[in-house]
Formats: sequence, structure tokens, C-alpha cells
Amino acid sequence: MQIVPVASGKGGVGKTLVAANLAIALAQANRRVILADLDLGGSNLHLVLGLNVGGPSIGTFLGKKKIDFSEAVHETGIPNLRFIPGDAEIPGLANLTASQKNMIVRRLSGLDADYLILDLGAGTSQNTLDFFLMSGQGIIVTTPTPTATVNAYLFLKNAAFRLLQRSANRKSPGALTSTASFGNAVPSSVFTSLMS
Ligand SMILES: Nc1ncnc2c1ncn2[C@@H]1O[C@H](COP(=O)(O)OP(=O)(O)OP(=O)(O)O)[C@@H](O)[C@H]1O
Ligand SMILES: [Mg+2]
Repeated sequence: MQIVPVASGKGGVGKTLVAANLAIALAQANRRVILADLDLGGSNLHLVLGLNVGGPSIGTFLGKKKIDFSEAVHETGIPNLRFIPGDAEIPGLANLTASQKNMIVRRLSGLDADYLILDLGAGTSQNTLDFFLMSGQGIIVTTPTPTATVNAYLFLKNAAFRLLQRSANRKSPGALTSTASFGNAVPSSVFTSLMS
């Protein structure tokens, strides 16, 4: 399964539209696609898809009512395209704990599809960077304005530093250790010198 996270530094630059259209185009090309709304705390991808989310979501999965993650994967009415809602209506969802984030990463990685497209939130919070780093590939959306372009660059820079940090400190409680696609660990001395 190819995982394609869609990120940006600045908000409102078109991530959700890009993620939705990419997913629909791949589905129309006969690929089995799952589109996940990982803009937790600000989920609105369902609106772009024209869906009314009343069923289980990532928020439901993390909540008290225990459900299987597969229950949060919904048909969209578009052939080959399924959708996982984030659910902005559950308070605190934007501030996932490391274990909640790791659980979501594991469940998403275990899905059966050709493509998993991730619509991420804006900014460089640790959870957003870790969702972006689930894959060795990704898309950073920007617009031709100085603020959006600088923030896109800063997103990339923060993602690179986060990758180095995780590699240098694999034993830290928040570190994800399963993203093997990024190859060898970076020695901690390299990270220390880059940070200084
Ligand atoms: N290519 C485009 N041309 C014109 N308008 C666009 C384009 N892409 C997005 N928009 C508009 O820009 C606005 C923001 O788009 P969108 O919600 O996709 O951005 P976003 O980066 O996901 O925002 P957020 O950071 O809030 O999640 C919407 O009103 C959308 O219709
Ligand atoms: Mg969005």
C-alpha cells in the first residue's frame, strides 16, 4: 500500500481539496483508495466529499465506546474510494497522546488498499509531522504567496528535524520505531550538531 500524506505549513492553502481530488482520480483509475481525515480537531474532508458523517470515526475509535478500526472505514458512493472521518466534534482530538497517535498509525498502516491518502492539519505539531513521516513520500501544498511558501519550507525543515530526532532517540517514549522506510538511524552526534 502506498501512503501519500498531504500537508502544508500554512492553513487554508488547499490540502483537503488536493487530497480529495487525488483520491478520486486514483479511484477512477481503478486503484483501491482509502482517504483519511487526519486534520484532527479541524476535520472537514467529509464536506468536500459531500458526505454526512453520522457513523464511527477516528474520534469514535479513540473514545470510550470501543469499536474496531475497520468500522470507521466508510464507503463513499464513489467506486473504489473509502473514507475515514476524523471527527472534529470530539474535544481534545487535536492533542493526541503518543500512544493514541501510534495506535492510529498502526491501524492505518494495516489497512488493505492500493493507496492511503492522508489529509493532514496545517502547521508543524509533532503529531502532524509523525503522520507525515508515516511514508517516505508525500505532498506539501502551498500557494504562491511569501507566507505560504515560507511555511511550506518550514514544514519540510521541521519534518526533517523530527525525522532526525526520532532516529537519534529511538528509545524515547514518543518515538515511532516502525517507519522502516526511512532507513538507517542517524547518529545522535549528527542530530546534536545539526540542532546547535
Ligand atoms: N485550486 C484551488 N482553486 C481555487 N480555490 C481553491 C483551490 N484549492 C482550494 N481552494 C479553496 O480554498 C479554500 C481552502 O481549501 P482547503 O480547505 O482545501 O484548504 P486546507 O489547506 O485543507 O485548509 P485547512 O488548513 O483549514 O485544512 C476552500 O475554500 C477551497 O474551496
Ligand atoms: Mg483541510
